[in-house]
Amino acid sequence: MKPARNIALLGALILSSVTFMAQGLNGQGFLVDVKCSKCHTLERVFIICKSEGEWRDVIEKMMGKNPEWIRPGEAEQVLKEILSLYPDRVHEMCRTRRHYENVRLLFLDRCTVCHNINRVLFEDRTRHEWGETVRRMYSEAMGFITEEEAAQIAHFLSETGHLLKEEAGGRVFVAKCLNCHPGEEILMETHDSAGWGKQVERCRETACRTFNTNWLDPAEARLIVDLLVKTQGEGR
Ligand code: HEC
Ligand code: HEC
Ligand code: HEC
Repeated sequence: MKPARNIALLGALILSSVTFMAQGLNGQGFLVDVKCSKCHTLERVFIICKSEGEWRDVIEKMMGKNPEWIRPGEAEQVLKEILSLYPDRVHEMCRTRRHYENVRLLFLDRCTVCHNINRVLFEDRTRHEWGETVRRMYSEAMGFITEEEAAQIAHFLSETGHLLKEEAGGRVFVAKCLNCHPGEEILMETHDSAGWGKQVERCRETACRTFNTNWLDPAEARLIVDLLVKTQGEGR
């Protein structure tokens, strides 16, 4: 009885999502969604407003990265789609963006739309400079970041940015862990000390094999684990 009902429910769910997709994709699907989402988010494509000529230049530049992936006929089609979808997609992004109580998650979400978080982690800034940088990003983001969120993120960066930079563990983290990862892959996770210890050990082995050196000594591994417990701990 129960399983049967669950199956019926599941069926209904699948059906409704199929209908939703068919409507959402206008029967055939947009080429821009397929071709322009492999190396970065679609948000990145739409967030900065451009003239038709600037769009052409961007698409040409993207084709240059891999001409087999975007062919000339497809580029034309993508351009047409972008021009017709343009303001609606941005409104849609702003309407459906998520709200986060946790400022660390807010930071990771809003500040990875246009570039990965390493851009931020490699920087050394004072409180005042973070305020200025975040304001500038806010003004580029077409409403995707609200004024209040910008203030929260600037505050967060001036409070915790130094943890990732000034502490010995922070310097090791930036120098060693961001070689292979966009920082958000690491900073999205929460673990206790033992959990971080295991992950760092796994990556240490990978890195030693890859770089063929004694890449991270136990004291450095300890510093990184302590740092991540501090910045990524529960409830932050
Ligand atoms: C092969 C990977 C790849 C594909 C496919 C790709 N991009 Fe990009 N895109 C990048 C990279 C890397 C950057 C950042 C560095 C740069 O600008 O070259 C970028 C940056 C951008 C930017 C921001 C830079 C700017 O000048 O505003 C836009 C907009 C963009 N891409 C649009 C597109 C569109 C539209 C498509 C589909 C036609 C696309 N991308 C497909 C790799 C790609
Ligand atoms: C709307 C797209 C967009 C969003 C969202 C965004 N950035 Fe940027 N960011 C850029 C662009 C474009 C550049 C490179 C050009 C420049 O420096 O203005 C950049 C560069 C940077 C740099 C290095 C260069 C500099 O001038 O400081 C930092 C640091 C940075 N961003 C931090 C952030 C932070 C923190 C957030 C989240 C609040 C964020 N970004 C969100 C577009 C964005
Ligand atoms: C040589 C490249 C390399 C370096 C350097 C590296 N990692 Fe990794 N990391 C990987 C690979 C590959 C995986 C996926 C397989 C696995 O879990 O071992 C991974 C996975 C992870 C994951 C799980 C999330 C995911 O994306 O799968 C975390 C968290 C992580 N690494 C943290 C770190 C930390 C912290 C450091 C710095 C001490 C670090 N990594 C350094 C290669 C690296």
